[in-house]
Amino acid sequence: MPEPRVNDIRGLDLAVRDLAASEAFYTKHWGLDVAARDRNTVYLRATGREHHALALHQSPRIEVLGANYAAPDKATVDALHAKAVGAGVDIVAAPHALPAIGGGGYGFSVRTPDGIRHTLSCDVARHATAIDDKRRPRKFSHVVFRSKDYPQLETFLREVLGFKLSDRTDGIDFFRCSGDHHSVALGKLTGPGLHHMAFELPDLDGLMGASGRMKLAGHIIEWGVGRHAGPGNNIYSVFVDPNGLAAEYTTEMEQVDETTYPHRTAEDWRNLPIRPCAWGMGMERSERLRQANTGKLVDELNRRHCETMSQRSAS
Ligand SMILES: [Fe+2]
Repeated sequence: MPEPRVNDIRGLDLAVRDLAASEAFYTKHWGLDVAARDRNTVYLRATGREHHALALHQSPRIEVLGANYAAPDKATVDALHAKAVGAGVDIVAAPHALPAIGGGGYGFSVRTPDGIRHTLSCDVARHATAIDDKRRPRKFSHVVFRSKDYPQLETFLREVLGFKLSDRTDGIDFFRCSGDHHSVALGKLTGPGLHHMAFELPDLDGLMGASGRMKLAGHIIEWGVGRHAGPGNNIYSVFVDPNGLAAEYTTEMEQVDETTYPHRTAEDWRNLPIRPCAWGMGMERSERLRQANTGKLVDELNRRHCETMSQRSAS
């Protein structure tokens, strides 16, 4: 058997305090659809056939709960589980039939030292058809975690999940599990938590249409539209969601050949003439996005909620 590896990222699980507001943002404005729901969770699909790209869970505290990855078959899931056990990773649950509400399938979960749950699965139900609308996200693209304090995460990604190193920069290291240049990246910022998450549009027109829809709905483009003059070469426009989390539309992610892609170092990228935007358009992130990337917005929202709750219980 070849080295067992995950071969795609499915999406994220987020804990949100205002589930209704978050659902409204991601369906009415961002462009996802409800695939399933139960009392405390809503599963949101993109236009592709993947069951869902984002699961929002009602919680008193805003945080990223977990990331979900695809494996090709049960034998690979079992082999990945054996690798995780051998590596001493904290196993949340051994391989089993997953809940039908989230698309079912067969998989298991582990928890990394930053507290994030990683679920590896195969045979998850897919929608019968894709949705024909190129101005809405077609799939989850990538996630960047704040992982400065968790050097074990790179080892976990590469040695357990089978990710390959694509590139390193001063701020972020990029890893791939498919032809996409990166599906997971590790930001060298204090964590744990989310730096940003990205959803893929089919092309530039789709990304511009989606960004325009957000703008008309009153959301500010916090960075972009631009094209990364750096790892991935992808086009971006970045927003902040109602939970203080950074959400990116992206397209034209560089497709790489696993065997020939020469990963580059931080020094290679530092010497490029124009950064961060190849067009010279999206050069500066907003201060609000900086605060989202560093987790300050989420911390502030969580702090305010704690204060409100303690005032209520005192009165
Ligand atoms: Fe990104």
